[in-house]
Amino acid sequence: MKTHWSQDGYLRAWLFAAHAHRGQALSGMDLPYTTHIGSVAMEVIAALTIETIPTPDLAVQCALLHDVLEDTAVTYDQLQTEFGAAVAAGVLALSKDPNLPTSRQMADSLARIQRQPSAVWVVKLADRISNLQSPPAHWSPAKIRGYREEALKIHQALHLASPLLADRLATKIEAYRAFCPE
Ligand code: NI
Repeated sequence: MKTHWSQDGYLRAWLFAAHAHRGQALSGMDLPYTTHIGSVAMEVIAALTIETIPTPDLAVQCALLHDVLEDTAVTYDQLQTEFGAAVAAGVLALSKDPNLPTSRQMADSLARIQRQPSAVWVVKLADRISNLQSPPAHWSPAKIRGYREEALKIHQALHLASPLLADRLATKIEAYRAFCPE
């Protein structure tokens, strides 16, 4: 199949994200944070390989940059200057609003993602697929159950954007039951 997303666009976003997340580690693991970023981009590219998702470069760049507003010093204006308005708006929708109570942050982000192109929806599906591995050892049973319930809401809100990733997320949600004590 013909490559329909830009490898140079990928590299630019990957290097920007690697620089922005430098020094950060994955929660509870001795691995760089970019391990997560790479796995989210991989899921998105797997979907782009077999499904038709409009604006594939937007999907790839938002995947690589999806945590820079939430977790680093990078600003919206910087993203807009470096990667354009669509990427900046997508990453903003993928970021929790810290001014809201924690309990409302995910529903708010999902509502904002739904107003974005489907390329942005796909990134959120990929992000949760990547995050539904073994939960960090310090998480309480209630937190683990809540994380699984949140994943069900993500699936419900965004599944239409990518049947492939929706199926994959559903499988991960089912498997995550193993970590949820009754
Ligand atoms: Ni993430």
